[in-house]
Amino acid sequence: MAHVDQSVPSLPPLPPEYVIRRCDRDDLPSVGRVDSAAFSGHDLYPQFFFVQALDIFAGGFLVAERAREVVGYIIAVVGQDVEPRGWILSLGVHPDHQRRGIGSNLTAEAEAFLAGKGLEQPVLTVDPANTTALRLYEKLGYEQVGKLRNHFGEGEDRLLMKLRLTNTRSEPSRVG
Ligand SMILES: CC(C)(COP(=O)(O)OP(=O)(O)OC[C@H]1O[C@@H](n2cnc3c(N)ncnc32)[C@H](O)[C@@H]1OP(=O)(O)O)[C@@H](O)C(=O)NCCC(=O)NCCS
Repeated sequence: MAHVDQSVPSLPPLPPEYVIRRCDRDDLPSVGRVDSAAFSGHDLYPQFFFVQALDIFAGGFLVAERAREVVGYIIAVVGQDVEPRGWILSLGVHPDHQRRGIGSNLTAEAEAFLAGKGLEQPVLTVDPANTTALRLYEKLGYEQVGKLRNHFGEGEDRLLMKLRLTNTRSEPSRVG
């Protein structure tokens, strides 16, 4: 029988000029700008969503910054939908800073936050046409576990993905 590698894919290193930390209230305008740039002005969260997200999900709302400039964000939450499970709700990296491992490291830190809550295998949804995000998540060990038809409205399908494994990644959390 073929050997199946059950190890979690390792992370690209985060370049040393970048830091991942918890989001502060003062970061929210920058988070909105990163969101707008990352999603090219489409399907954006209204700014009040970020305020509410920080109010409610503070510990899982993380930013990546370089020289005090926020360049990426992720929101991880403890969901109660079908059972308590971790959700990666949103992820964006400014286009000027993509392909440097920031999205991967933000995801790993969000996973570490959720694992600290006892939720080892987060789920997320992604637009089936978003090949960039699909590649990122597949590379990190997520697999498709469902297709949610018309999830965000007529014709707005989403793929449901789940982290395949429970092993921890090699990089420990750096976020306090
Ligand atoms: C998806 C996103 C967060 C990735 O952020 P990132 O910081 O560039 O990700 P990483 O540098 O960690 O990339 C990890 C892997 O993802 C894949 N990937 C990332 N960007 C890619 C691109 N433009 N084309 C192809 N593959 C890509 C690659 O496999 C990459 O590994 P590699 O660089 O070693 O080949 C970023 O492209 C983004 O913000 N996109 C718009 C918003 C979005 O789609 N968010 C996710 C919604 S579910």
